[in-house]
Amino acid sequence: MADLDNLVAIVTGGASGIGAATCRLLAREGAAVVVADVQDDLGAKVANEIGGMAVFRRLDVASEADWRRVIDDTLRHFGRLDILVNNAGVSGGQGSVETTTVENWEHVHAVNLDGVFLGCKYGIEAMKRTGPAKAASKGAIVNISSIAGLVGAAGPCAYTASKGAVRLLTKSVAQQCAEKGYAIRCNSIHPGGIDTPIFNPLWQMMGHEQGKAFIGARHPIGHMGEPEDIAEAVLYLASDRSRFVTGSELVADGGITSGIQRRMLNAPR
Ligand SMILES: NC(=O)c1ccc[n+]([C@@H]2O[C@H](COP(=O)([O-])OP(=O)(O)OC[C@H]3O[C@@H](n4cnc5c(N)ncnc54)[C@H](O)[C@@H]3O)[C@@H](O)[C@H]2O)c1
Repeated sequence: MADLDNLVAIVTGGASGIGAATCRLLAREGAAVVVADVQDDLGAKVANEIGGMAVFRRLDVASEADWRRVIDDTLRHFGRLDILVNNAGVSGGQGSVETTTVENWEHVHAVNLDGVFLGCKYGIEAMKRTGPAKAASKGAIVNISSIAGLVGAAGPCAYTASKGAVRLLTKSVAQQCAEKGYAIRCNSIHPGGIDTPIFNPLWQMMGHEQGKAFIGARHPIGHMGEPEDIAEAVLYLASDRSRFVTGSELVADGGITSGIQRRMLNAPR
């Protein structure tokens, strides 16, 4: 058991997929959880299902005013902030550098990159203000990047650029916190294909089971991941089990970025 008792977490994009699984796991491990999302009904449903100390708060991660409001509200409601999971993201579709519009580029970066920047900025301020909950505990920020933040893809050009930027923003935040002596760690996670609604456009084209098998076969491990697989990685980086880990990147991708042969052959398993 990772002991998250008395700790308070905000999870952005907590209404769906990886974020919802993370809210459930952090709550099960004892944390009070703020489910933060733009999907009001789904977010409230996740918080109600968790029960106990979970609440839903509307947060558009691209809005500085929303971040101020949700952080203030969290401190008023729970008195502190210990864990911030910057998970909200959009795929932005499949545009290449030639076909991506400026509007699409700006929207993807507003959510995937500006949202993480604002989260780190206001999250650190709140963690500094409220200090460690227990003698051993430290604040933890976990940013959800992607394998698209490690290797390039022609297709989702804006998504790839935004996720690559999240990878290095994470290291910059980790360095800043360490240099200033803040008790705050910051790490990124790089998931491979995880079965969540972000794939809905593909499921609509191929069907869920067929699409899942198609994507899964492109992972050396032979299948897609589940949201809970990434939630477990978040739990490790959010808890003091990873107290010596900061500025690092945890790759949870079924092996897809670990070798080149399958990609060179472009062959399924
Ligand atoms: N599913 C995958 O294969 C995969 C792989 C790598 C990385 N990721 C990343 O994981 C994160 C979670 O994605 P998911 O797969 O669970 O998808 P998802 O679509 O199920 O969840 C994304 C959540 O983010 C929320 N969101 C979107 N824009 C927002 C905004 N402006 N403010 C607040 N919330 C907003 C959505 O409402 C949704 O609840 C994303 O950052 C995504 O890029 C996913």
